[in-house]
Amino acid sequence: MKEAVVLVEKIIFGGDGLARLPEGKVVFVPYVIPGEEVRVRIIEEHKDYAIAQLIEIVSPSSQRIPPPCRYYTICGGCQFQHMEYEEELKIKEGILRELFLRQGYREEIPLKEVISSPKVYGYRNRLRFHVESPPLKMGFVKRKTHEVLKIEECMLGDNLLKEVLRDLYESDVWSKLALHVKRFRIEKSLLDDKVCLLFWISVPPPREHLEELAKLKGVKSVFYYLKGARPNGPYPEDAPHQGRRLMPAISNLIYYINPGVFTQSHWEINLKIMEKLVELAIDAERILDLHSGMGNFLFPLVKNLLSAREFLGVDTDLQAIEDGLYTAEKNFLNGRLELRKRSALETLYEASQEGRKYDFVILDPPRGGCRDLIRLLPEVASHKIAYLSCDAPTLVRDILLLNERGYFLKELFLFDMFPRTYHWETLALLQKRAL
Ligand SMILES: C[S@@+](CC[C@H](N)C(=O)[O-])C[C@H]1O[C@@H](n2cnc3c(N)ncnc32)[C@H](O)[C@@H]1O
Repeated sequence: MKEAVVLVEKIIFGGDGLARLPEGKVVFVPYVIPGEEVRVRIIEEHKDYAIAQLIEIVSPSSQRIPPPCRYYTICGGCQFQHMEYEEELKIKEGILRELFLRQGYREEIPLKEVISSPKVYGYRNRLRFHVESPPLKMGFVKRKTHEVLKIEECMLGDNLLKEVLRDLYESDVWSKLALHVKRFRIEKSLLDDKVCLLFWISVPPPREHLEELAKLKGVKSVFYYLKGARPNGPYPEDAPHQGRRLMPAISNLIYYINPGVFTQSHWEINLKIMEKLVELAIDAERILDLHSGMGNFLFPLVKNLLSAREFLGVDTDLQAIEDGLYTAEKNFLNGRLELRKRSALETLYEASQEGRKYDFVILDPPRGGCRDLIRLLPEVASHKIAYLSCDAPTLVRDILLLNERGYFLKELFLFDMFPRTYHWETLALLQKRAL
């Protein structure tokens, strides 16, 4: 296979470095840093570009550090462990700016702040594993394959998640259950410093096994999916709050969330996003959250925007809505907000039919973005849109579409929710242009 020494120009979305082969063709290579000279081996040659493997760092960047995780480069989870955190932040900002330029955004990019993470490791409050057994293997998918890599410790996870994973490897009851388990999640309940276990299994698990599993140190509740839309549980049956996780939010809020219901995986950064949204929405009167989940971003607004008249959150996940209603009751906020199981599109359609308008609309969609909502948004979003996205390319695409529909990008914030990986969260504040 062909080898070459190349100069890394930049890092692109996805974490690979971009360099040029001597004949000028672009080559992508992982685990490098801008400015480094590296020897690479071409492993895939395409018409316009090549993909290479890193063979040797000929001249290392001053930002290069030894990656601390033993699975790094085999596991597909992390891309930036080999560099100082400052460099990672610089790279993420550069990628975000470039996405705007490449998609044809011609105005100044109003990036106000890059919010770094207080923790670079140990920040995730939940982890999801694939399971194979026997012999018992719990882990993540290997980079660029579908093969499961056995993981005994993930450095991104909170310490308690690491301890519970270690105990699961040693547990007799888990080794019996695991014969039929396909995947599972460990999710931390932050307020009681315990975890909830949720697994997908192909045969009904014996009740005594579930009860025994729930007695493992640090475990608060156990749930499983066999079939159907709802998990079975909790075990033990009398687990407090039906086995929900307890998560403290800003303004003395406490969230009660079932395992499996979406939560932001990095809680410290989630709290910072809540604070920013309160600041951005401070004089709003009617608030609509089109991907509310259990109300993660809506509750802080309810607590802080005392003169606002209406708060409506919608989500397609019924369990999330139920958790939101439970949370409202427990926080004495019944009647202050409305949470409905409904799709974002249906909600916009109904609001547009009824002539209802909202002056602060929150979007926090899954990776695919909001393309389908953009046609109706101008009829409903009368002033500001706060669009939070974990996928910057689709966010930029949607911002350009919203631009055509009468909204301009006012402020942009990069929240580093996922240090050591190529992911982050971007919050975009858009505002309707005055006529
Ligand atoms: C990234 S999560 C954000 C949830 C919430 N904002 C939070 O911070 O916890 C995206 C949410 O969009 C919801 N969702 C997916 N498709 C939807 C749709 N068509 N309409 C409304 N919500 C949807 C999912 O159920 C999920 O709760």
